[in-house]
Amino acid sequence: MILEPRKREQIMPLPVVLISTIGKDGVRNAAPWSCVMPVLRPLDDIAIASWIKRDTLNNIRETGEFVVNVPTVDMIEAIVISSRDYPPDVDEFEKAGLTPRISQKVKAPGIDGCIAWAECSLVEEISRKNYSIVIGKVMHLEVNDSFFDKDGEMDYEKAKPLSVMLREKGMHFTYPVFTGKEMKYTEMFLSNKDQASAIEEEK
Ligand SMILES: Cc1cc2nc3c(=O)[nH]c(=O)nc-3n(C[C@H](O)[C@H](O)[C@H](O)COP(=O)(O)O)c2cc1C
Repeated sequence: MILEPRKREQIMPLPVVLISTIGKDGVRNAAPWSCVMPVLRPLDDIAIASWIKRDTLNNIRETGEFVVNVPTVDMIEAIVISSRDYPPDVDEFEKAGLTPRISQKVKAPGIDGCIAWAECSLVEEISRKNYSIVIGKVMHLEVNDSFFDKDGEMDYEKAKPLSVMLREKGMHFTYPVFTGKEMKYTEMFLSNKDQASAIEEEK
């Protein structure tokens, strides 16, 4: 079967995060986001793609900050509500019943009850006709201890971080399960040495 090129969004699972920001006048905003990508292991950049008409994008431009919150499946209702196109003066934390959480390095609040919070500072906006790619740097990364072990590894089958499969008429919300197979990073290198760790050590 051959699909239209635009359906490339439907051929792979995507993460679902909630991006929280504040406007220059202090109004809190939250919106679900799937076009989000940590830019290469082991760096600390994160990229998000945004349509031009987004309060989130305007807020990031105005304040230079945003928080990437990783929600659980229990937060689907709030995600649906916060995906609505409320005007910029509407507090979307209030609308979606989200509890704010004080951030350490940015003014924008995180969202309580999430699995993890990445507080980001704007590095660069790459503007295209209809969209922008926003590159942020993670300034502070904190996780919910109830879903992580002492080595900082997520128990993802317990945490159930939300993901999504896009379909023609809507979205199917999903979460990950372990296949039983694993692989060490060193297996990618003929030298059996993880070059990403070497880059990190050089810093
Ligand atoms: C699961 C999900 C993922 C989404 N991913 C994106 C995305 O990656 N980029 C984007 O611009 N909008 C995305 N949206 C749409 C925005 O969340 C929606 O337009 C929202 O109203 C934007 O809010 P804002 O104007 O307050 O920023 C997504 C919506 C959902 C439900």
